[in-house]
Amino acid sequence: SAERTLVLVKPDGVSRGLSGKILARVEAKGYRLIDLSLVSATREKLEAHYAEHVGKPFYEPLVEFMLSGPIVAAVFEGERVIEGFRSLAGATEPTTAAPGTIRGDFGRDWGLKVQQNLVHGSDSVESAEKEIGIWFS
Ligand code: CMP
Repeated sequence: SAERTLVLVKPDGVSRGLSGKILARVEAKGYRLIDLSLVSATREKLEAHYAEHVGKPFYEPLVEFMLSGPIVAAVFEGERVIEGFRSLAGATEPTTAAPGTIRGDFGRDWGLKVQQNLVHGSDSVESAEKEIGIWFS
């Protein structure tokens, strides 16, 4: 059955002017755009969104990075969209993410303590429901 996922274009993607290209790739794959917003993160939203990473060495750099500029939040819908978007996004580390993926084509290591990897996509139906509630409330 059709499911929904939360996609974030992180501050690096927005500041580099890649939001439109990134959203266009998701639409071109055939997923339907359901909701869209330009938002500023807050520490509270990030703590809820990244609850499983709180306390990891990259958590504070990750928060600083996510607070560094506006974010595009989008909800996409379709059969297996969670898996489909993650495949389109590519591996977490942009240097070695496969060419053809969003991270592989547009991302690289910038020498910082956090992976600036352009996009986030929910990893399960439960995370998607939780995350859509955080960014669209
Ligand atoms: P995302 O998929 O949004 O989920 C957690 C984020 O933390 C991840 O993308 C990266 O931006 C960042 N991240 C994950 N693992 C590491 C790591 N080992 N070092 C630095 N940043 C990381």
